[in-house]
Amino acid sequence: MPTLLHIDSSPRGDRSISRKLSRVFAEEWQRKNLDGKVVYRDLVMTNLPFVDVQWIGGAYSPPEEHTPEQSAALRISDDLVAEFLSADEIVLGTPMYNFNVPANVKAWIDHIVRVGKTFEIKDTELKGLVPAGRKATFIVASGSNFKAGGPRAHHDHESPYLQAIFNFIGITDTNVILAGDAKDLSQGKVKEVDFLKPLIEEVIAAA
Ligand SMILES: Cc1cc2nc3c(=O)[nH]c(=O)nc-3n(C[C@H](O)[C@H](O)[C@H](O)COP(=O)(O)O)c2cc1C
Repeated sequence: MPTLLHIDSSPRGDRSISRKLSRVFAEEWQRKNLDGKVVYRDLVMTNLPFVDVQWIGGAYSPPEEHTPEQSAALRISDDLVAEFLSADEIVLGTPMYNFNVPANVKAWIDHIVRVGKTFEIKDTELKGLVPAGRKATFIVASGSNFKAGGPRAHHDHESPYLQAIFNFIGITDTNVILAGDAKDLSQGKVKEVDFLKPLIEEVIAAA
């Protein structure tokens, strides 16, 4: 039974473009994988702590040597890593904040990119540990347009970063859907139905 991990991160609830599109992706994926399971993770509700000194001490020492504080700091990371590794496929709905991922997505990445769990250090080499064959789709909503070849493309530090960090842990099959120009919607220059139509088609084709 295949599993999709569906992650949302926008704090804008029902007004969020990335949430609307990630939901379409999850629904279409479920339609195509009738025996599949969708696991949902809302990073706004999860309220993740940042990596701290206890987390680092624990992550870089053997479990049998962990102090109670280190074990406690790693607990949420252990859960997120297990959830992440149990998924065959991931869809992440995310806003662009200041040309990059929002802080809650970065906090999640810091918890799941874990030495000995999702990557390893062998001699001086770093190697991803996520089993082969996994796939990730990133749906990035932004006020401006960052399409390849456009005048602002070089400011998109989010999609290259997401692809790079997933590649690092072993997920090379990645796809980015850019939902740009969302400012036209908030400024009333375009109707929501018209704004979403081509994006929904792109998302359905990708799911
Ligand atoms: C704190 C903050 C930072 C933002 N930074 C950018 C940015 O760097 N580039 C951009 O095009 N839009 C930026 N935006 C606009 C959002 O990306 C846009 O509203 C998007 O639709 C948010 O995703 P959502 O609709 O899923 O909430 C920013 C919005 C906020 C609140």
